[in-house]
Amino acid sequence: MPSFRAPRGTRDLLPDVSSGLNRLEGVARSLAGRYGYREMEIPMFEQAAVFERGIGEVTDVVEKELFRLAPRSEEAEAWALRPEATAGIVRAFVQHGMHTWPQPVKLTVVGPMFRYDRPQAGRYRQFWQWDAEAIGDPGPAVDAEIVEMGYRFYLEAGLPHVQVLLNSIGDGACRPAYLEQLTAYFRRHEGELPELERRRLETNPLRLLDSKDPAMTALVAAAPRIGDSLCEACAAHFAAVRAHLDAVGVPYRVEPTLVRGLDYYTRTAFEYYRSGAEGQQQALGGGGRYDGLVELLGGRAAPGIGFALGLDRVLLALEETGSAHAVETPPLAVVVGADPADTVARFRVASLLRAEGLCVRAELAQRKLGRQLETASRDHAHFAVIIGDELTEGHVQLKDLEAGTQRLVPLAELARELARAAKSHHHG
Ligand code: HAM
Repeated sequence: MPSFRAPRGTRDLLPDVSSGLNRLEGVARSLAGRYGYREMEIPMFEQAAVFERGIGEVTDVVEKELFRLAPRSEEAEAWALRPEATAGIVRAFVQHGMHTWPQPVKLTVVGPMFRYDRPQAGRYRQFWQWDAEAIGDPGPAVDAEIVEMGYRFYLEAGLPHVQVLLNSIGDGACRPAYLEQLTAYFRRHEGELPELERRRLETNPLRLLDSKDPAMTALVAAAPRIGDSLCEACAAHFAAVRAHLDAVGVPYRVEPTLVRGLDYYTRTAFEYYRSGAEGQQQALGGGGRYDGLVELLGGRAAPGIGFALGLDRVLLALEETGSAHAVETPPLAVVVGADPADTVARFRVASLLRAEGLCVRAELAQRKLGRQLETASRDHAHFAVIIGDELTEGHVQLKDLEAGTQRLVPLAELARELARAAKSHHHG
């Protein structure tokens, strides 16, 4: 006998967890609407080059974690599952000429992302993100607005103790000189570098700062900081972002070593952590500005900023506080029958009630009436609709399972009766 299991690093979201995720998606959509972000969908896979160019060839996400799809023929394009949404959204921005839309274009995507990560709690190969992007506004006010929207998400999701870490990582004007300084620093410590980091020193030295290798912690802490090398324009931008956050009272901490793990960032970079877990590997979410990405993916230069919040990690955090699960609403009524074999009658009456918008369950198993009624109370239904011989005269019994009372109701009035009873139940 084969014994099949969900692939390593993936989870079946059973109804309790799935409804928790749905609730979070609801909070995300509500916030997106209030802040003027319009929801869109992008494919779950793209040409791999969209990610290689957009996110950067020398990043963990592309080098180690990209889910590449095996090409089906020689001339087929190389595809990969989306590891994040930003590159795909920007690809769509360029493809559909969104630079001609009123600027900025504010877009949002909610859905699963895929990374071939080493699985552990909070790190999955399929995980869910709420992603939001504002393209076409150079900031700094929109930077603060997006940081605030993310902060509010955690509040409304029921996770009040979230810390914002904030940094500026400079731009094309000031970063090259900083990178030279950084490279020189790490060269002096080349002997202490793990193999991968030594290779990256030559290709992408900034990535050494977000290395997951514990051997790097002390070296990174003592490395030169980008904050000390910001040009005047970047420093002014960063100060203005902070002033806007101060104005709305979003608490944040400037974290000079925060650089994020993707190559497209310029200037503002931020991450959200549970208070007390700052700077550990599992951020709840993160984002930043990417003023070069639109051009990099073939469009006319346009600035952008966005975030992605990991919904799995919010669910995990809520589980720890015992507030993850949505409460299930019981059916208003269960349709049962005196004749166990007459499933047609129960099915038909339930169908009538559902067409009227009511939430009912039909007892379709062929058990005795007593057993059918037991399952009705187990489901916490308020009423049982009991079908018996009266149906030939167009009547059914309506039993209030809580009060224990029962009366005859014409089938034609059943939906209205139930709706009315439901209302008085809610008010009572
Ligand atoms: P990121 O930091 O790579 O940024 O991912 C954002 C969030 O997704 C993380 O903070 C984490 O909560 C969640 N996440 C990432 N990988 C996993 C995983 N393997 N398992 C569970 N959760 C995970 C981005 O994706 C950028 N696109 C954010 C952005 C948008 N920047 C600008 N716009």
